[in-house]
Amino acid sequence: MSLVLLSLAVLCRSATPREPAIQCGHETGPSPEWMVQHTLTPGDLRDLQVQPLKTRVASKDYSILMNISWILRADASIRLLKATKICVTGKSSMQSYSCVRCNYTEAFQSQTRPSGGKWTFSYVGFPVDPNTLYLIGAHNIPNANINEDSPSLSVNFTSPGCLHHIMKYKKQCIGGGSLWDPNITACKKNEKMVEVNFTTSLLGERYMVLIQRNMVLAFSYVLENKVTRTSVIILVAEESEGAVVQLIPYFSTCGNDCIRRKGTVVLCPEIGVLFPPDNNRSMLGGWLPLLLSLLVAAWVLVAGVYLTWRRGKIKKIPFLPANPLLPLVKVLVVYPLEICFHHTVCNFTEFLQTHCGSEVILERWQKKKIAEMGPVQWLTTQKQAADKVIFLLSNDIHMVCDSSCGQSEGSHSENSQDLFPLAFNLFCSDLRSQTHVHKYLVVYLGGADVKDDYSALRVCPQFHLMKDTAAFHTELLQVRQHVSVKRPSLACHSSCASV
Ligand SMILES: *[C@@H]1O[C@H](CO)[C@@H](O)[C@H](O)[C@H]1NC(C)=O
Ligand SMILES: *[C@@H]1O[C@H](CO)[C@@H](O)[C@H](O)[C@H]1NC(C)=O
Ligand SMILES: *[C@@H]1O[C@H](CO)[C@@H](O)[C@H](O)[C@H]1NC(C)=O
Ligand SMILES: *[C@@H]1O[C@H](CO)[C@@H](O)[C@H](O)[C@H]1NC(C)=O
Ligand SMILES: *[C@@H]1O[C@H](CO)[C@@H](O)[C@H](O)[C@H]1NC(C)=O
Repeated sequence: MSLVLLSLAVLCRSATPREPAIQCGHETGPSPEWMVQHTLTPGDLRDLQVQPLKTRVASKDYSILMNISWILRADASIRLLKATKICVTGKSSMQSYSCVRCNYTEAFQSQTRPSGGKWTFSYVGFPVDPNTLYLIGAHNIPNANINEDSPSLSVNFTSPGCLHHIMKYKKQCIGGGSLWDPNITACKKNEKMVEVNFTTSLLGERYMVLIQRNMVLAFSYVLENKVTRTSVIILVAEESEGAVVQLIPYFSTCGNDCIRRKGTVVLCPEIGVLFPPDNNRSMLGGWLPLLLSLLVAAWVLVAGVYLTWRRGKIKKIPFLPANPLLPLVKVLVVYPLEICFHHTVCNFTEFLQTHCGSEVILERWQKKKIAEMGPVQWLTTQKQAADKVIFLLSNDIHMVCDSSCGQSEGSHSENSQDLFPLAFNLFCSDLRSQTHVHKYLVVYLGGADVKDDYSALRVCPQFHLMKDTAAFHTELLQVRQHVSVKRPSLACHSSCASV
């Protein structure tokens, strides 16, 4: 009996046509079908979608691949369809290009699945890097003849950054700290103190904690080589409630370029109940003021002892609060548009603001003003206002640059204009005069060099970072001392020289 059933089942299976599946493999050159003339070709795809997918490669290693899925058009031309070819171009600092060809294992007998749905397939492959633009194109084979319109479908896919719930498992992201949860909490203890707590990581031992609004208000370093909840008190001179805490880790794998985290400064919760209930008032009577002042004194003492203990407990470089009474050196930074704003200009700006007591003027942050005044007028005004003008040159040129620093949220490079040539031409006459040339500096990042078009810049003092960091500090320190004479204030703070 069971034998009969079995053979019936086998019969049945061979009677119903098998559903087409796909078999995919890399195909670098043109498909062989290009070489022959076809009288009839299948139509194009109906839909193409891309999603990042985490796949396990070893016990703890994941690779992030694209899951590319497509839907076939339900029309009669599906009978001609033999394969679908998918090509992916990645546009990051290095352009990549590769293709796969997916053959359908059977000829299509119907426009839809026997079960009724549309024919849908997916291919998992093509490694994904974070923050990269991919152009994915797909076409059906046999393709149209040469000189005929070849139907194809393309989509763009911009991969998410390292903190994305799937992307964070990429090795490169893990090295940058994507799996680290610092769980930053920060609160304003009083007008002068912000307390920041965070969990350190095993990946590194140095962290910078910045309190910033539009500008950096204050910062501090934390040294810690174990995983522990760390607390640091940062002195601020300005209103800190609602300010942003930026935590910059320096891990061995990513150096200055690790994933930065953010938090917000809130008010610290009120501490304890200091006042006895109201109904005791008559009894306490005249004692109340004395009692209160005693309590306050005790609290200040305890807080003081606690803070000293706290500070002694964590290894931490003494904090260098930004002092608002100090004159800031106004620096206008001009850079060619092809420099990656986020990686290079932001980092440099942050360096100037945090280590060199500078107030930075950037085109990117004043777009509205530039639009109102016109670029020439804007540059002229800024030049007059600035203590120094820095021409920033770098060979760190990325094809795709991710989002820009905080202040310019929502503004993208497409509506930026390259003020570099304009600034160069405008300031060129100054470069020939002995009295004015000192206002200008050229800063190189990486192995960049002055292009011949801008050879007049060679007369300016030139600094190669990080090699000439000390000399660069000294230069700005001198400006700062000079400025403090011009605008009477405290003497130059030592933070510039001590980093
Ligand atoms: C798909 O079909 C083409 C042409 O028949 C063949 O050259 C290729 O090797 C096949 N690819 C795979 C992955 O089976
Ligand atoms: C790929 O995406 C398709 C469509 O969203 C889905 O049906 C399929 O299960 C995904 N593949 C994997 C391996 O997750
Ligand atoms: C994909 O990106 C490229 C390059 O940025 C652009 O030229 C193209 O128009 C985009 N295509 C789609 C479908 O968005
Ligand atoms: C973050 O820290 C707070 C305060 O220490 C704690 O209550 C919370 O559970 C922590 N969250 C996570 C995800 O560890
Ligand atoms: C930081 O940690 C200390 C000690 O655990 C705690 O008393 C304080 O409330 C925390 N502060 C914040 C801002 O989380």
